[in-house]
This record gives sequence, C-alpha cells and structure tokens, in this order.
Amino acid sequence: MTTIASSTSALAALLHAPLEAPPALESLWMPFTNNRAFKQAPRMLVSAKDMHYTDADGRQVLDGVAGLWCVNAGHCRAPISDAIATAAKTLDYAPPFQMGHSLSFALAERLADMLPGDLDHVFFTNSGSEAVDTALKIALAYHQARGDAKRTRFVGRQRGYHGVGFGGISVGGIPTNAKQFASQLLPSVDHIAHTHDLARNAFSKGQPQHGAELADDLERVITERGGDTIAAVIVEPVAGSTGVLIPPVGYLDRLRKICDAHGILLIFDEVITGFGRTGSAFGATRFNVLPDLICAAKGLTNGAVPMGAVFARHTIYDTVVNGAPAGIELFHGYTYSGHPLAAAAGLATLDLYEREGLFQRAADVAPAWERAVHALRGRKNVIDIRNIGLVGAVELEPREGKPGTRAWDVFLECFKRGVLVRQTGDIIALTPPLIIEPSQMQEIVGVLGEAIDAVA
Ligand SMILES: Cc1ncc(COP(=O)(O)O)c(C=O)c1O
Repeated sequence: MTTIASSTSALAALLHAPLEAPPALESLWMPFTNNRAFKQAPRMLVSAKDMHYTDADGRQVLDGVAGLWCVNAGHCRAPISDAIATAAKTLDYAPPFQMGHSLSFALAERLADMLPGDLDHVFFTNSGSEAVDTALKIALAYHQARGDAKRTRFVGRQRGYHGVGFGGISVGGIPTNAKQFASQLLPSVDHIAHTHDLARNAFSKGQPQHGAELADDLERVITERGGDTIAAVIVEPVAGSTGVLIPPVGYLDRLRKICDAHGILLIFDEVITGFGRTGSAFGATRFNVLPDLICAAKGLTNGAVPMGAVFARHTIYDTVVNGAPAGIELFHGYTYSGHPLAAAAGLATLDLYEREGLFQRAADVAPAWERAVHALRGRKNVIDIRNIGLVGAVELEPREGKPGTRAWDVFLECFKRGVLVRQTGDIIALTPPLIIEPSQMQEIVGVLGEAIDAVA
C-alpha cells in the first residue's frame, strides 16, 4: 500500500520521486507500450519546460516530437498553466448536458473565427479518438436528417490512423491495431489505397509530385458499393502515426471533387495537422481543400489538458440541429465535453499561438527544417526523407525478418543521447514544438544521424 499523495508538495515530491526513490511500476497498465520491457528499463520524465524534458536522471532531453505531436507552443507555458489554475479554482466542473459555461462557448467562437470556409460549429470531445467517432456519427446523423438514411458506409485509407475507438480502428488502416478486436469492427467500411510511393517519390521535399491519381481509388469503391451508399470518406491530410505520408500534389483536391460528385462527406482528421504543424492553421488551409468535417485534438490545448473537437460546416449543423423536431437533436456527448479546465487551456493556447505568430513561425522556419532533415540523406540505411512544415520523417531500411527493430534501436539511442524522437515501423518521425530554434534543429538531426550510425 502506498500513501495517497494529493497536497501540492506531495505531488511535487512524487513527480521527482524517480530521482531518489523510483515508484512501483506494476499497477499501471501502460497504453501502446511493451509493458514488460518498459518496466525492466523505464524511461521516466519528471518535468518539462519549453523545448526540453528533464528525465529521472536529471538529464535534459530535447523534445523532437512536441510530446506526442501536441505541445506546439512548447512545454509548461505560463499563460496556459495560469489559465488552467484559474479555471480549476473558479469552476472546476460544469455539466455540458442542458447546462453551459462561458469558457466553452468562447472557445467555440474563437475556433469558428479561425476555421476556413463555412466550418463554423464546434463539438467538443476529450481526445482525437472521440473526435473521430463523433465525426462519423455526425456524418450518419446528417444524411439521416436529409432523408438519405441509406448512406451508411464509411471509406478510410490504408495506413490511416484515426485513434482507438471502434469507429476509429474500423476506418483506420493499421491491421495490427484492429486484429485483437477484428470480430467487432464496424461492418460497412472500405479502404482506399495509401499514397506512400518510394519508387516515385523518395526524398521529396514538401509535397511529392506523383500520386494524385491514387485518389481515383475512391471511384473503385463507388463502383463496387454505389456512391449513394457512402456517408463519408475520412483521411488525414498528412498521415502521421504510420510514418508521415505527405499528400501528393493534387491528391486532396481530387478526393474532394470525387466526394462532391457523389454527395459524400469528406472528413479531415487533423488531430496532428491542426494548429500550425504544417505551417498553416490547419491542413485544410495548408492544402487549400475544404472538408465538411474536421477532427482535432492535441495542439488545441497545447497538450496541457485533454481535449478534442469536431468542426462542422454550416450546412451540417443547420441540417442536423435546425432541421430537427424540438428536443435533443444529436444523441451524443461526453461528461467532459468542453470541460472548464480544457476550455481555459484552449483559449490561452490560441492566444499564445496568435501573440507569438507560431503558425507563421512554423512556415518561416520550414525551409531551414527541410535542409536540416534532408542533410541525413546518404547515411547508411536511410531510404527516404520527407518533410512538410515542421514535420519530418526518416525512413530506414528494415532489418531482414525483424521489421521495426532498427528504428526502435535508433529511438533508444537518441533518447540515450538526449533527444526524444518517435518511432513507427522503420520510420523516425520528427515533429518539434513550433518554437524550435535553428540550433536545436541541428541538435536533433545531429543526434539522429549519430544514432543511425550507431545501430547500423
Ligand atoms: C490522426 C489522428 N487521429 C486520431 C488520433 C487519436 O487521438 P487520441 O490519442 O487523442 O485519441 C491520433 C493520435 O495520434 C491521430 O494522430
């Protein structure tokens, strides 16, 4: 039995405990983690500031991945922490069903102002996974409200990641994430081809030139299933979790055109591309393609409090809500939708992004970032490098019969050398906070190069 730590000083002591007295690790079932290996050799973080973590050994670790693609403004920014503290002391919780508070309304209005086109309504969730399942439900509700209830099918894409809800793993295109649950996936889902094409696009800078025609794979599904049975197509503008797959020039426009021709909604899952990552507010603005629904999370609160959201075009809200008989219009919501702490964090985060011009900053430093990551070309086992905005990926030659192990060893080597990167398959993804300095770009890439050599 351990004692319960809840006073400020006890929490601080617990956070720093790994420095003196490592906590027992067994009780926690860690997500997406090799639990047994981790508990043998834990990697514990105790604090964070701006571009760095401090680990349990007191080492500074340069954050090359914004935590997990979410801490876009850098860590422990005072305006955000202060806003959270104020909300926690003033309105710790407010029920979101049939009750309201000003923070969530203010955040929704703020988001509506910055969204492109007529994306002007916001439904709050607590995570990207919930945002995805919410968007899929809204798509079904929209077609039903229009009297077109036979549109029940969804189309996802191979190598898509849409979180871990049953909806998300069904439309997602990662077989390993679905195989333990394959008996209960959504029944009416098809997948179109992914866009990763090393034969034609290796070492592309920015958007690859080849592959717009891969959007036509949607026509195949439409021919097989009937366009009038499909409710929505969901894609990430830039696929992140499966290794940074950047849309070929013209691909997203083509997808939009095909959806329009058949009355199919287009959902952009912008959980990682939202809030400046590509050098623009959203992937939709970066690639100039307007989806019908956007899923967001991560950068929305700078990772400081869990929050996700779905952004909907005017006609979708109007059809589902204003066209409904009196009463609850959408039978969906979460106890913590628009939680006061999250909404306060979101407002402070958007202020910070604006005050520091961080989306523009990401665009301004993107050429230096591109030069930095592409400098790894020619290293042993590097078979591709790609980049967009402040995203980079280095793809490595898999070891024979042991896929993923080379990049995993590179991840460990980087951490040992004081840089946090992200491994997915045999790809190392880099997505630093948007406040990164040029010298820190060099440090990330320098350490990554050493690590690649060390495990060669
Ligand atoms: C594109 C995309 N969608 C959804 C999710 C799921 O978000 P969460 O982990 O907050 O549920 C992620 C997480 O990385 C993501 O990258």
